[in-house]
Amino acid sequence: MKALILSGGKGTRLRPLTYTGAKQLVPVANKPVLWYGIEGIVAAGITDIGIIISPETGEEVRARTGNGDRFGAQITYLLQEQPAGLAHAVKVGLPFLGASPFIMYLGDNLIQSDLKVFLHTFKTQDLDALILLRSVSNPSAFGVAKIDENGKVLQLLEKPVVPPSNLALVGVYFFSAAIHAAIDQIQPSARGELEITDAIQQLIDHQKKVEACTLEGWWLDTGKKDDLLEANRIILDTLDPCTQNITQADVDDRSQILGRVQIGARSVVLNCTIRGPVVIGEDCHLENCFIGPYSSIADRVTLIDTDLEHSVILQGAKIVGIHDRIIDSVIGRRAQLTVAPKRPKALRFLIGDDCQIELM
Ligand code: G1P
Repeated sequence: MKALILSGGKGTRLRPLTYTGAKQLVPVANKPVLWYGIEGIVAAGITDIGIIISPETGEEVRARTGNGDRFGAQITYLLQEQPAGLAHAVKVGLPFLGASPFIMYLGDNLIQSDLKVFLHTFKTQDLDALILLRSVSNPSAFGVAKIDENGKVLQLLEKPVVPPSNLALVGVYFFSAAIHAAIDQIQPSARGELEITDAIQQLIDHQKKVEACTLEGWWLDTGKKDDLLEANRIILDTLDPCTQNITQADVDDRSQILGRVQIGARSVVLNCTIRGPVVIGEDCHLENCFIGPYSSIADRVTLIDTDLEHSVILQGAKIVGIHDRIIDSVIGRRAQLTVAPKRPKALRFLIGDDCQIELM
């Protein structure tokens, strides 16, 4: 069994953040989304992993993620020259996959469930495809399944205008080598892509063994801001209740650190109140701040005279002088926010990398 993780694409839905970086490297609780997927796959016992990368962000993905040693896996990078669809990515992966069955995992998806259960079903029932379904309120944004009363998959449609059900295809699939012949049969969709949804439909049409499991736990497609914040909240909530790890940081005695808080090495915290769950990276400087629950602050961030909660602050960002609380915000790498003393009352942001904002 091998794994193919898709980490290409342009990440248009997370722009402006993803003009300058891979969406799969956007951090959730200070760890790239992609790494959660890798860890889940390794935990299910699969260590031979291929990662599909794009010309735009592939080098960044490779440089950050490495050869797999840190995960106890072996990673092979495969370049997809064009964002020509998920099924096209499988074609690119073919030299790596050979005739092996594999799990295909979209690198911006996060799921709560343990993959082992699904892998067991896939293997013991000797399936050609196992898909995961989850009910959603906006099925038209996804691949959608029509199933009969016994749960048998009848039809799959990609982003249907009139969805036949509210069951979306989760971005985690299990395939036998039969998928390759199915992909050879399909044509590009209206959006010009070879859709994996259409390839699975081919398997169904040719009486191959396709089954669906319904996902009970949470599923997040972190390609959008609100999902990213939600993923951050959920992952921070899984921090061990006994965890308070601030020993490598320099926290002065005017500061109050409450609950589940992690602060990385060489970070300086002066006269702040930090109420967990919160993670703060390395080499940060925090002064006269309130940091509220569900905040993730990456390495080398500077926060002075600033209050925030339920927000994600990326590497090297700097915020000065915002005591009106920043909430539900994602601040890009190296972004700078400086506020003059007379300022507006409520603030909500999605700010990309390298921005500089002054509210006067
Ligand atoms: C892709 C698939 C879609 C699936 C979704 C899950 O959509 O085409 O069937 O439901 O991932 O995240 P995309 O993200 O390419 O729009």
